[in-house]
Amino acid sequence: MEKTLNVAVLGAGTVGSQVIRLIEEKNGELAARSGAKLRISAVVVRDVHAPRDYDVPREVLTTDAETAIDEADIVIELIGGIEPAFTFVKRALSNGATVVTGNKALLAQHGPELYELTATNDTDLYYEAAVAGAVPIVYGLRESLAGDTVNRVVGIVNGTTNFILDQMHTTGASYEEALKEAQDLGFAEADPSADVDGLDAAAKCALMASLAFHSRVAMDDVAVEGITSITSKDMEEAARTGFAIKLLAVAERRTDDAGTDGIGVRVHPTLVPLTHPLATVSGAFNAVVLECESAGRLMFYGQGAGGAPTASAVLGDVVAGASHRVHGGHAPRESRYAQLPILDPGTARTRYQMRLRVEDRAGVLSEVSGIFARHGVSILAVTQHQIDRHREAEIVLSTHTTREADLEAVADALGKSNAVLSVESVLRVEGDG
Ligand code: HSE
Repeated sequence: MEKTLNVAVLGAGTVGSQVIRLIEEKNGELAARSGAKLRISAVVVRDVHAPRDYDVPREVLTTDAETAIDEADIVIELIGGIEPAFTFVKRALSNGATVVTGNKALLAQHGPELYELTATNDTDLYYEAAVAGAVPIVYGLRESLAGDTVNRVVGIVNGTTNFILDQMHTTGASYEEALKEAQDLGFAEADPSADVDGLDAAAKCALMASLAFHSRVAMDDVAVEGITSITSKDMEEAARTGFAIKLLAVAERRTDDAGTDGIGVRVHPTLVPLTHPLATVSGAFNAVVLECESAGRLMFYGQGAGGAPTASAVLGDVVAGASHRVHGGHAPRESRYAQLPILDPGTARTRYQMRLRVEDRAGVLSEVSGIFARHGVSILAVTQHQIDRHREAEIVLSTHTTREADLEAVADALGKSNAVLSVESVLRVEGDG
């Protein structure tokens, strides 16, 4: 006789509502695929009378999370944030329930403890929806590439910031105008800081790095810069020099100055050559490029947010979890055997483009280039535009690949130089050179 599994859904917002709809509408197919009938035993919400995107049956709505969790075989956590999600997920795992979550902040902060509870209680923890919505990057790294060596992960993993930057690039909108449009269209929250300050991307970067490099990487390990200082002028200059500006999450194996092998993890706005596949990722879409030893280069692309796309990732995990409960076996456990250290971001090596406002007089270019030379930073190209007929000019310099700390020292010295009126922007460039 077909087994029935009780499923508790914590949270019935945009994603939760779609998960409930799909479990109801596709019940027969999901049962055929997993070997178990999925019965929604409880939907935990703060207010059972609040309006929702999908008409959840009244009899399963409850505010009693503890009872809902204790009666469930599978707990789907879609509340977000750290508490009470952390307490609820711990309770579910301690009961031996399978947990499916989309909560990147919780995993990036408390992943190790949750993995340990999963192992002690002989159950499974799934989180495909935590990184890049519908895009199966967690499965790709955790299972498909388990036999390969991943050297680099670089991706656009925040749709809100990609939408804002894309609007600025294609319409000439200012940052403020593009943010307002993202808010009007429902991409950006009223308080957009988690997205625009790069924190959401940093949590996803930590999760991808942990999986790719078989090491523990926490959100605090990621060096983060958001997009709030990107101006229309930066966009114009990027387009003129053949680049798009994208908020990239970069996780890579590298070696530091002392020859130590480790991991570099960072999130920052980046000049991406228009010929690079990530430059073509528009609107609120996500994409991740993996550089692997045997598989070579792989690109994952798709919808990184939204109710139905994220629900697709959740349901993939639910089917896998249900199938393991019926047929035995487990999802992969945490793999952290490599224990690679997190390297100082100052030892990262990348290319840069810098825009300076300078006095337009004899000797200025020589003074500027002298500062680069003194710090051992090699200039790749320089262009100058006159701003004011006699007094001011703008210089755009790009560098060969250089150490981050050396470039910071250059920017600092330029800021103090009499020849330089202001350092207008310093942006990293994706790719070697
Ligand atoms: N706020 C995120 C984004 C989606 O804009 O991509 C959820 O992580």
